[in-house]
Amino acid sequence: MKVKIKKKFSTKYNKDGVKETTVIYGDRVILPELFLDNIVHGDNLNTLKSIPDNKINLIITSPPYFRQRDYGCGIGNEKTVEEYMDSLINIFSECIRVLRIDGSIIFNLGDKYLEGSLQLIPYRFALKVLKSCQVKLVNNITWVKLNPTPRQYRRRLVSSTEPFFHFVKSEDYYYDLKDFMNNNEIKNKRNNGNNIGQKYFGLIENSDLTLEQKKIALCELQDVIQEVKGGKIESFRMKIKGIHSEPFGGQDGGRKYQLLKKGFTIIKIKGEPIKRDIIECAVETIKGCKHPAIYPLSIIKELIKLLSKPNDIVLDPFVGSGTTAVAAKEIDRRYIGIEINEDYCKYARERLENTYVCIQKPLGLFV
Ligand SMILES: C[S@@+](CC[C@H](N)C(=O)[O-])C[C@H]1O[C@@H](n2cnc3c(N)ncnc32)[C@H](O)[C@@H]1O
Repeated sequence: MKVKIKKKFSTKYNKDGVKETTVIYGDRVILPELFLDNIVHGDNLNTLKSIPDNKINLIITSPPYFRQRDYGCGIGNEKTVEEYMDSLINIFSECIRVLRIDGSIIFNLGDKYLEGSLQLIPYRFALKVLKSCQVKLVNNITWVKLNPTPRQYRRRLVSSTEPFFHFVKSEDYYYDLKDFMNNNEIKNKRNNGNNIGQKYFGLIENSDLTLEQKKIALCELQDVIQEVKGGKIESFRMKIKGIHSEPFGGQDGGRKYQLLKKGFTIIKIKGEPIKRDIIECAVETIKGCKHPAIYPLSIIKELIKLLSKPNDIVLDPFVGSGTTAVAAKEIDRRYIGIEINEDYCKYARERLENTYVCIQKPLGLFV
């Protein structure tokens, strides 16, 4: 495609050969090549206007929260929550326009207390989107922060969750659940470490089972723990007579019978764990990071794998320190990041220079 460069864009290569594009103001011109694998310095609304319709596979972003931080300029310091949401809706509408019909948009937003009251800003935003834009909300994925700010208030609990809304343009959105949350980086802590099933040892010991029953129960418990550790089964649950309730219904020869005769029953859970709309993950910090509000790389990588294929284009219109772009690059996707603050652009480009594709590609020996 012939690229028509208008004066409103300035693209140069710095001394290290890194592409630096600045958008002064936008006009609908076809310039995707200039933005691809690039951190574009500029206002996102103007920049998005330069991207043609239906080009982007996935948009993942986290706009500044309402009056939370001063990034120097841009969105977040509007006078009222309504004005703030209007600014976000304008950008969201452009996101929908540039998104492919099978694409997804992930919006991560944080809440805010004003005059002692929580504003429910993320949910008000999601409702406004559903009312005014042609999208569907697939999930409200909750990020549970394992290490929230350690500041206990006297008359309220510490907020330690944030939503990631998953919106789509159509029901034909690309989705690959198979590998979602299978890696060990943020795998649910349940089955990691050495305390799988440990609580049952004490329960057996203190139960009313006979000595013989206890001996068999301990033996079977050890076996099933080995099965989990060895990856033969996903997990298990144990029911012990007098401690756990009897299973409802079922045949007399089934679990009810085992509980009655053996004094216990073990329920083995095979196959993949259920993939839930909760991600437990610590807030990340990067040594020397110049940005105050980065989101976890591991969550973003999981969402990119879930919602795009290698070589797809992932866009973040509020790219900040570049986390979305870094995640995309690591798993072999193309990226476009937009950021209004020049220092953050530089920092994001530095991060990207030190990022390499780190997925295992087949060696292709037999093809
Ligand atoms: C919450 S931060 C994003 C952080 C990012 N997720 C990360 O991991 O580094 C939001 C960013 O949006 C930028 N921003 C605010 N208004 C903008 C606008 N109109 N256009 C482009 N960027 C903007 C801010 O400078 C800030 O870096």
